[in-house]
Amino acid sequence: MNDSELDKSRTELVASGEMLDCAPNGTNYDGSPATAVPVGLGSDGEVMVVDFFKSPHWLVSGMPGSGKTTFLANTIIPTLISKNTSDELRLIIVDPQSDTYPEIRDSQYLLRPIIRSAEDCKDTFNWLVDEMERRYEKLVQQRVINVNQYKQAGHNDMPHTLVIIDNLEQLGMSKKKIFEDQAIRILQKSKAVGIFMVVATRRPSVDVVSGLMKANFATRISFKHKDQIDSRVALDQTGAEKLEKPGNFIIKCVETDLKPVVVRPLSSIDL
Ligand SMILES: Nc1ncnc2c1ncn2[C@@H]1O[C@H](COP(=O)(O)OP(=O)(O)O)[C@@H](O)[C@H]1O
Ligand SMILES: [Mg+2]
Repeated sequence: MNDSELDKSRTELVASGEMLDCAPNGTNYDGSPATAVPVGLGSDGEVMVVDFFKSPHWLVSGMPGSGKTTFLANTIIPTLISKNTSDELRLIIVDPQSDTYPEIRDSQYLLRPIIRSAEDCKDTFNWLVDEMERRYEKLVQQRVINVNQYKQAGHNDMPHTLVIIDNLEQLGMSKKKIFEDQAIRILQKSKAVGIFMVVATRRPSVDVVSGLMKANFATRISFKHKDQIDSRVALDQTGAEKLEKPGNFIIKCVETDLKPVVVRPLSSIDL
């Protein structure tokens, strides 16, 4: 990534209504898949849309104050809620910090209360692995290969389920291991049954995210990191240390052909 590309990464705030109405090709955004999120403005000024179904499992990182929670709470969650009813979308939120996500605390979209501890996280992942297997059995019975075909066949008992873990490092380095095996199983095979994960952490080093776990995130999103070393840990390359404004990030995903693209935020709701 060159410096002129990074210069363009200044923050430009766009109202959320505007963000939902536009798509990269200028068509109305309403026609987009239920799992697609307009994540921000790419270096070319176009809205970048990332679809969980094409690019499952996002690893989000960045130093404290770089914009991770804002992105989760003000971009991902409201976008998906605006496109799906609570019968179509379920959220599971894990956040060991008790004060974030107040606006979602009583939401009907939440499958269970916001999870704060590694023990509760383990119970949830045990349940999720069982749920994933139950969903696969349903696909086999209906002779379809994924949740979208299952829905097209007229079934509505398989809501897309998004698992968001914020501040992963605060779950406790050693305790985290008690649910890591289940989390890896989910990461490896949950896409076809509509279960997706977003994990945010300040630094995805091996003590926080094991190599096997990290390898299963198809999408890397890196907000500002303090130096080139941390940028490499996050993205396998430098660049995230040069990001200027909170909310700007570098993304590598299927939609960018796994190349790094600098993205500026679309909205500033509740800042
Ligand atoms: N998209 C954005 N646009 C403008 N400012 C932002 C944006 N995202 C974050 N910020 C600013 O940065 C601060 C810290 O963001 P936050 O999401 O809490 O960071 P993190 O979760 O990485 O610690 C916010 O309170 C806000 O002032
Ligand atoms: Mg945060």
